[in-house]
This record gives sequence, structure tokens and C-alpha cells, in this order.
Amino acid sequence: MSTPPKRYASWTHGKLPLPELGELKRRGEKIVMVTAYDAPSARLAEAAGVEIVLVGDSAAMVVLGNESTVPATMEEMLMLTRAATRGARQPIVVADMPFGSFQVSDAEALENAIRFVKEAGADAVKLEGAGPTLSRVQALVGAGIAVMGHIGLTPQSATMLGGFKAQGRSAAQARQLYKDALALEAAGCFSLVLEAVPAPVAARITEALRIPTIGIGAGAACDGQVLVWHDLLGLYEGQAPRFVKRYADVAGEITHALEAFAADVRAGAFPEDQHTYSMPEDELAAFEVELAEERLPG
Ligand code: KIV
Repeated sequence: MSTPPKRYASWTHGKLPLPELGELKRRGEKIVMVTAYDAPSARLAEAAGVEIVLVGDSAAMVVLGNESTVPATMEEMLMLTRAATRGARQPIVVADMPFGSFQVSDAEALENAIRFVKEAGADAVKLEGAGPTLSRVQALVGAGIAVMGHIGLTPQSATMLGGFKAQGRSAAQARQLYKDALALEAAGCFSLVLEAVPAPVAARITEALRIPTIGIGAGAACDGQVLVWHDLLGLYEGQAPRFVKRYADVAGEITHALEAFAADVRAGAFPEDQHTYSMPEDELAAFEVELAEERLPG
């Protein structure tokens, strides 16, 4: 019986080294990334063997109940990242820099990125966009912080892009995306998210780059794929984008469990003896005597 090929070239324990992602691309093995926003979810992602946990600013919508990702704040993202890094020992944890945390200047972007690494234990940060984002990437990488890029549909600028819709569907737009991808690689990104981009465009970009591409709604040729935790598990109400595949109905499971709990409580069927604590008979008797003798207030 032949031994299966080793998935990683150098990794044996602890944190997955970043260069392993490039190795996976080189060998044509797919990279798995999933969002997670707390310790138990990150732990489950690790148990499932995913390579990258993204603490996405999608949390602003799926966890914090906002209509878009724009309101996400540094403090919220730091808190969620801290929780996720406690749960994910092996996967690379990437913190999404929220809108407003990197747009103003290279210096402010660097200050905020340092907070993700120092205060929240992130292994890398993700920045949306190209153009002005390029000098931010250079500043962060120059300071020793690993950066993941993100182009195509960049939800932080959805209004400017005309809404949550696919990008790069004209030759001119596709050319721009291609150039942006090359520029982000040259600026030092270690990988690049391509969101809602036509599959042939994502395929050409993936071929052209040395760094891995992680697709979401960008076709099967990308070097890896990412989905949002709540979308893939069926935890998010509302219209899921076309590119989501739902792998479970966790919202349904939770609702059934809560209904069963409520029914048990109302019927007096919970708690049972096994869920309660006893006390020594003599201590209980002494307590009852004190109550009977009205030595206790009430
Ligand atoms: O915020 C997020 O979850 C993301 C992914 C969709 C890539 O940016």
C-alpha cells in the first residue's frame, strides 16, 4: 500500500508556516480558508484541517447584525481576532482590517496592523483594494507584517462599485483586475482574495501570480477557496450570494434545540435530578430548622 503524499513540506506541529501556502500552490493542492470570529469556531476550523482562518469584517453583518461591513470598528475586530487566535493554534489567522483603519495613511495603517499582531495575536492582516492600498501593503510588509490582498468585489467599497455585484465582467475591468493583482504581488502580499470575479479572469490571474489566490465566487481555478462561516453552515438569514454553498442547516438545528428546551422548561421536564445539586441531609435539616425558627430574614 502506498503512503499518501504529505500535505505539508515542512510543517510538523504548531503554527503552519506561511511558505507552506506557496508550496501548496506549486503542487496544485487546494488551500482551504474559512472565516471564524470566536475561539470555539476557530478550534473547529482547526480540527477540520483548514489552513487559514480569516477573521473577516463580514462579522459586522453576520455576528453584529449590521447591514454592511462598513461599520466594523478596530475595537470590535480586535476583540473577535483575539478570540479566534485563542482557538486556532495551527491555522494561519488573518485579521481583516476594517473600513477606516487603513485608508487615511500608511502610518495609520501600520499602527492599526501592529495592534492586530501585538494585541490580538494575528499572523497576518487583510486589506481590501489596490491603487492607494499598494503603498499600505508595502509599509506593512516593510515592517514585517504579512498581508493578504483582496480585489474584485470589495464589500467596504460596495457603494462605489455599484452594489454587491460581480466585478471584472468587461475586458477593461478584467485588465484592471489583472494589473491590480500583479501590483499587489509586487507590493509584497503573500496571497490574494478574488471575490465575485468571472472564473476565466480569476484563472488567468491565478496562472500569472506566484502567490496563491483564494477565491470566493471566482471559480475553481483559484489556488484556494473561502466561504463565510455563517453562509456555509446555514446560520445566516437573508439572501445568500450566488457563490455560497450551504453545507449544513445549523440555524435549523439550533431552532429545534431551543424549541425543545423551551418545551421542557414549560412542561417541568427540565431540569431533572441529574441536572441538580444535592446537599448532606443533616445540613439541609439544620437549614430547615433555622427557617422554621425564623432565624433567617425573609
Ligand atoms: O470579511 C470577509 O469575510 C471576507 C471574505 C468574504 C473574503 O473578506
